[in-house]
Amino acid sequence: MIPQWFIEEKRDKKTHSEVDLREWIAGVTNQTLPDYQIAAWLMAVYLNGMTDSEIAILTDAMLHSGETIAFHLNRPTADKHSTGGIGDKISIPLAPLCAALGLAVPMISGRGLGITGGTLDKLESIPGFNVHLSITEFKRLTETIGCCMIGQTETLAPADRRLYALRDVTGTVPSIPLITASIMSKKLAEGADTLLFDVKVGNGAFMKSLPEARSLAHHLITTGQTLGRTCRALITDMNQPLGRTVGNALEVKESLEILRGEGPEDVRHLTLLEAAHMANAAKLFDTPEQAYEYAETLLKNGKAMEIFQKMCHAQGGNPEAPLPKPACTKTIYAKNSGFVTSVHAEKIGKIALTLGAGRVKVSDTPDPAAGIEHLVQQGEAIAKGDRLCTLCASTETCLAQAAEQIYQAITIADAPAPKSKRVYEIIEHP
Ligand code: URA
Repeated sequence: MIPQWFIEEKRDKKTHSEVDLREWIAGVTNQTLPDYQIAAWLMAVYLNGMTDSEIAILTDAMLHSGETIAFHLNRPTADKHSTGGIGDKISIPLAPLCAALGLAVPMISGRGLGITGGTLDKLESIPGFNVHLSITEFKRLTETIGCCMIGQTETLAPADRRLYALRDVTGTVPSIPLITASIMSKKLAEGADTLLFDVKVGNGAFMKSLPEARSLAHHLITTGQTLGRTCRALITDMNQPLGRTVGNALEVKESLEILRGEGPEDVRHLTLLEAAHMANAAKLFDTPEQAYEYAETLLKNGKAMEIFQKMCHAQGGNPEAPLPKPACTKTIYAKNSGFVTSVHAEKIGKIALTLGAGRVKVSDTPDPAAGIEHLVQQGEAIAKGDRLCTLCASTETCLAQAAEQIYQAITIADAPAPKSKRVYEIIEHP
């Protein structure tokens, strides 16, 4: 394979052969291809796309660019991937809940960048929680406890790390073939047989429209099925944040409420729904409804919480220790009465970033205590002077900047708006 001919092939909208694609990814992994040629090819893919078969081969080649994990357990393995959203803390209660349902959940998560938070940053706000375990320890805890949550290792899908870094600086992140191969190569490497995708759509998500979200869901499922996994996708709303908290420790606090059978209804329902579909897709239950009902009892009777606490202790964390507290807080009050007709996810995400809860660049360290809590939700009736939310930060300057922006993110009108949908579609077959 001559690199420039390979690039020209995609520039001219042609289809790559399997042999060439695999050789290309080998060159990405072993550093024999220079950045400029990879970058040119990424832009050609961004502009001209790939066939389903090319995406499956690319994914498989990226998946085998490093170590892969295999489980031989007497229960099914399953995991989920969310494309990311504001206040999306579902993975934290979901993994132990699925383990309580009888699944094994080997979960490798990412860090947040920009306005979307990452599960690892949230977990690390629990004092002592270690997300850097060896693969041997990851496997052992998944087998013995039923779930384990760690970060990406150097050895899993290394081709993705190089490609993603180049995409990040060449305007080629929002490409469905590249996103699909990136997500799937990492998810398939961790060894789960069943995968659930939560594809978020809305102003606070990667995918802004339903057709785009459907297309990504279709490609994730098709690629997973071609490579031998059972896959299902939910398309869920990200025009408003999930729950009443945004920010790392604050989201852990809300996740613990869910595990105690409490917490906001939208977070509780999505956690149960995702668990139900994972358990049903993995054939533990005949219907998602049966699994949902049983999962509800596991939240109420404390079994899911028990597993969370075991996982936390096994990973060095202390679930009873106080979570980081902000140095300063400011409560924001409604200036007029009415109904909350929208809480704009993207604007809330940017406010959380102003407060210090996220990362603008990869090297930033988020403030674990920063964020927003007691956030009102769409549909609520509000009287003048009621609390809209409480802002948490480490400096008064951050608080003052964020306080100015909050009224632009929350709309209060005289009449209630129709309640917006939280789950748009459930896709089993592409
Ligand atoms: N998440 C990933 O892991 N990769 C992408 O390309 C986009 C989101």
